[in-house]
Amino acid sequence: MPVSGSTSLTPNQTNIAATAVFLARIGWHGPTFEAPASLPLLQAAELAGQSLASSCRNGTCRTCMCQLVSGQVVYRIEWPGLSAEEKQAGSILPCVAYPASDVVLRLSS
Ligand code: FES
Repeated sequence: MPVSGSTSLTPNQTNIAATAVFLARIGWHGPTFEAPASLPLLQAAELAGQSLASSCRNGTCRTCMCQLVSGQVVYRIEWPGLSAEEKQAGSILPCVAYPASDVVLRLSS
């Protein structure tokens, strides 16, 4: 079932300033951290002291996969290791997903 209010974009669908800084939240009531447009969400979370699951950090292993509950992300690699159906359902790979707006993430349990 598609997640309303969340989107994965391609780089040519955005015109985000490289210096933009968004707010990321883990869950609707969870911790927040600054998410610069210039950093993958995983790296921004780690810089803010938030620990997210990861392994390859290049979009292939899917260890970091989580749900984008709200907001938009953009990928700078052509295919970030998600099926079209997974992307449609709101799954993202934060190791290679850059924020394009404020975002809310739901981590896999
Ligand atoms: S850490 Fe491997 S896909 Fe993100």
